[in-house]
Amino acid sequence: MATATIIDGKQFAARLRAGIATHVAQLKAEHDITPGLAVVLVGDDPASQIYVRNKGLQARETGMNSFERRLPATATQAELLARIAELNRDPTVNGILVQLPLPKQIDPERVIEAIAVNKDVDGFHPLNVGLLAVGGTGMAPCTPLGCLMLLKERIGNLAGQRAVVLGRSNIVGKPMAALLLREHCTVTIAHSRTRDLAEECRRADILVAAVGKAQMVQGDWIKPGATVLDVGINRIPTPDGKGRLVGDVDFASAVEVAGAITPVPGGVGPMTIACLLLNTLTATCRQHGVPTPEVRPAA
Ligand code: GUN
Repeated sequence: MATATIIDGKQFAARLRAGIATHVAQLKAEHDITPGLAVVLVGDDPASQIYVRNKGLQARETGMNSFERRLPATATQAELLARIAELNRDPTVNGILVQLPLPKQIDPERVIEAIAVNKDVDGFHPLNVGLLAVGGTGMAPCTPLGCLMLLKERIGNLAGQRAVVLGRSNIVGKPMAALLLREHCTVTIAHSRTRDLAEECRRADILVAAVGKAQMVQGDWIKPGATVLDVGINRIPTPDGKGRLVGDVDFASAVEVAGAITPVPGGVGPMTIACLLLNTLTATCRQHGVPTPEVRPAA
């Protein structure tokens, strides 16, 4: 049986970061502007700490300034809102990201709404969500934006493609559907209450799986030749006790049917931070009235 092309998101993300670095250097040389990204972490969740560290490292690698603000797990909502207000006022901060999830005493909606819309590089503010829905020029959330870039690299023009997005989260599923619609795909959002998930998926030329259920999508859910993007990151137990990362797609069976597929890890994951940096560059240019560059991945 045919075997799918493996979409190398790690390599594509590295090329995208190199493209971003070129534009950051240009912005510095021509306008004396250095983009600044602030990442706020509340508490000490180990996974969140790793994400936050990597965001800072990669921002600095592309020539940006990176600011980290840490608050204890016991921080109040008022304390966090005060920090955000400071970052909103700070002209050296062009992008603000508050790492989710937040401790339970803090309402994430209030926090997201407090971030200045033009510094909301996560694209989670309701105004940016609305701008995306009406096809405007708001910030698009990083993971779906990364997925879209991989799809365009693989397929080119997406118009008329039948796309199925599995999952309806605010972070991935819904914005992914909006982006695909903007590219003129015929979009279905399928979810846990969908009557026949497998049947819906089998209609897809493009299948984006973002449900958070390990290896749920089987090879026989996939249309032969389809492009499959796996957003899931799930740890499953292994006999040695270390566990193993797998996606929402059962890779072994899917790779025999799909035309192209992202692996986990090394597929969609690395694109998220690269797109965060891209959004930070875009936000910086907009805040300074500098034309937004057309960033291309380096060769
Ligand atoms: N936690 C997991 N993914 C994300 C993300 O994309 N943005 C933020 N702010 N927190 C997250």
